[in-house]
Amino acid sequence: MTPILPPFPHTRLRRMRRTAALRDLAQENRLSVKDLIWPIFVTDVAGADVEVPSLPGVTRYTLEGAVRAAEHAAQLGIPAICLFPYTDPAVKTERCEEAWNPDNITNRVIRAIKAEVPEIAVMTDIALDPYNANGHDGLVRDGIILNDETVDCLVKMALAQADAGADILGPSDMMDGRIGAMRTALEGAGHNDVTILSYAAKFASCFYSPFRDAVGATGALKGDKKTYQMNPGNSDEALRLVARDLAEGADMVMVKPGMPYLDICHRVKERFGVPTYAYQVSGEYAMAMAAVQNGWLDHDKVMLESLMAFRRAGCDGVLTYFAPAAAKLLRES
Ligand code: PBG
Repeated sequence: MTPILPPFPHTRLRRMRRTAALRDLAQENRLSVKDLIWPIFVTDVAGADVEVPSLPGVTRYTLEGAVRAAEHAAQLGIPAICLFPYTDPAVKTERCEEAWNPDNITNRVIRAIKAEVPEIAVMTDIALDPYNANGHDGLVRDGIILNDETVDCLVKMALAQADAGADILGPSDMMDGRIGAMRTALEGAGHNDVTILSYAAKFASCFYSPFRDAVGATGALKGDKKTYQMNPGNSDEALRLVARDLAEGADMVMVKPGMPYLDICHRVKERFGVPTYAYQVSGEYAMAMAAVQNGWLDHDKVMLESLMAFRRAGCDGVLTYFAPAAAKLLRES
């Protein structure tokens, strides 16, 4: 509760803003390298270790490149890296079998990073879209996204990633019941220490477009994702999803996108008090970078202010393409 203030001039709130030292003392929230998770793209098709056109400064890595990126992140003190695969269109099918192939690019990169950079936490993405001929996060029959059949596939994906050594599984698919199914399967397979960061409140957003370019899903996607991702007009529903996923065994929850949905981050943290993350998604990053490239915004300032906003809203951390640049700056200051 904000205390009722005695009248001016006893309360000159500017007193605490007069010098940098006083502002430091009065600062309520802080941003640290330890709040960052770095999403990276990995591929074994030709043309890797190049920049993603719609995401300036973001690279699609080969396996070796991904290991070097993880080393760099660990040196900067970033606690976790999150892997997203760009799959050869030739291996995409309607049944998405490549998703749980123990030797798919994601699983090979998990093993390589855990072997060479064991100190960094490896997070994964669980959804069928990078492997799906029609670009959806679930199996499709007669134009319908199948929930329960998709959950069976996601469980297989989760087990393959846990076997490869993933520390954090990130289901981003928005099917109902997948957290409980994964948790049961993980316990049954002896993976009782693998954590789940559920993309619990994921909205059907236009801000994912550059990501779909980065994973090669843009041309593939038929229709939209509105029957499984949330309606941007809703807020109470986000709380129901978070409650449900926690009850099913999620350790952490995510709100996505980030900046346009800070009200959701705030409500989730206030209501549940659990580890809460936001994804500053590709479109948010691309928007900032476009303004930076035009000379309209300052790179470092827009990066740090936007990341601080997540902390102020109550997030424990942020998935952001800015992670290495932000980490470097935060360490220097
Ligand atoms: C899909 C997935 C998406 C993102 C992460 N996982 C896109 C989508 O739902 O279409 C978006 C991340 C970003 O935009 O940075 N499983």
